[in-house]
Amino acid sequence: MATGTEEVVLKEEEERMVRMGSYGGMVRLLTVTATAKSEEEEEEKEKEQCSYEAAAEEIMLLWGIQQPTLSKPNAFVSQACLELKLDACGHSLSIFQSPSSLNTPGVTGAVMWDSGVVLGKFLEHASDAELLPLQGKKVVELGSGCGLVGCIAALLGGQVVLTDLPDRLRLLRKNIEVNLRHGNMRGSAKVMEFTWGDDPDPELTEPPPDLGRTQCTRLPLYAGSGRGECRLALPPFMERLLPSLEPETYRSWAKAFAIAPMLGSDVIYSEEAVLDLLSALQQLSGGETTIFLAGELRNDAVLEYFLECAMKDFVIGRLDQRQWHPEYCSSRVVLYVLVRK
Ligand SMILES: C[S@@+](CC[C@H](N)C(=O)[O-])C[C@H]1O[C@@H](n2cnc3c(N)ncnc32)[C@H](O)[C@@H]1O
Repeated sequence: MATGTEEVVLKEEEERMVRMGSYGGMVRLLTVTATAKSEEEEEEKEKEQCSYEAAAEEIMLLWGIQQPTLSKPNAFVSQACLELKLDACGHSLSIFQSPSSLNTPGVTGAVMWDSGVVLGKFLEHASDAELLPLQGKKVVELGSGCGLVGCIAALLGGQVVLTDLPDRLRLLRKNIEVNLRHGNMRGSAKVMEFTWGDDPDPELTEPPPDLGRTQCTRLPLYAGSGRGECRLALPPFMERLLPSLEPETYRSWAKAFAIAPMLGSDVIYSEEAVLDLLSALQQLSGGETTIFLAGELRNDAVLEYFLECAMKDFVIGRLDQRQWHPEYCSSRVVLYVLVRK
């Protein structure tokens, strides 16, 4: 039987498990329980202290309990090969790599990284489980590298824009051409240059045309759960029907209309780039955007700095491995969901 203290800890853990944005599964909120009580006196300084403590706690949990260094790096990729083969969404994907480019200072996206494979397979798994509908949704990927994640999102029906630095787009374009031939996918894919911190092309920020005439509605997240909020883009005639919906219909609408995911794998790896990356996330996301970020657990200081800064503007939740694709789990990778505060 649980002792009083254990019961409190279990209750706190349970309270941290929530649904966020357009993802229908549960995520563990990054927050500090003790300071969350002082909501009324929330001054800027206190919020900063809160983000600092929550980020430090997350790093302690990841490195202390998950112990990333004990498992094999590059479990799902071979960075010395010219080609990575992977089955996803009923297709055999061939992702070309350029191992020799890694010798050029600053070039990191010329080969695949585990976190990209984990995020891509997570998208497939979540979509199969109907927890993350991508069909018809505009999806923007940051720092696409070789493009595996964006390819998978397009195969799952997303209207995907894959982005990277201007001089890194050749390999990305080749991988899109080779893997996404006309007729073999439900969505679409387009490559655009985008450097974090620069002003984005309006095409990256504008909503997709089919959602352009809809308005954004905020609703309690999933009827019956009584927790959180879901922001939906609903055509006005559907909005009028909302009060009369059965919970099951309400749930399926919430899944279908939550909009615009944003993706990034292994993009939190350099302290100098953290603020530019965050500014890109802010510029490209709206209240309806659900951001999925996959990180490699190499450098605790960089991840802690990112989380601390990101928590000022975003609510962050961690997806535990039970939600990932069961064959693509690694304790060297972490998956986060972010939504705007
Ligand atoms: C470690 S690689 C990860 C590539 C890919 N997402 C994956 O998981 O295999 C980091 C990617 O971020 C891109 N990147 C780094 N700094 C960037 C910046 N300031 N603006 C845009 N992209 C950037 C790199 O060019 C590279 O493709």
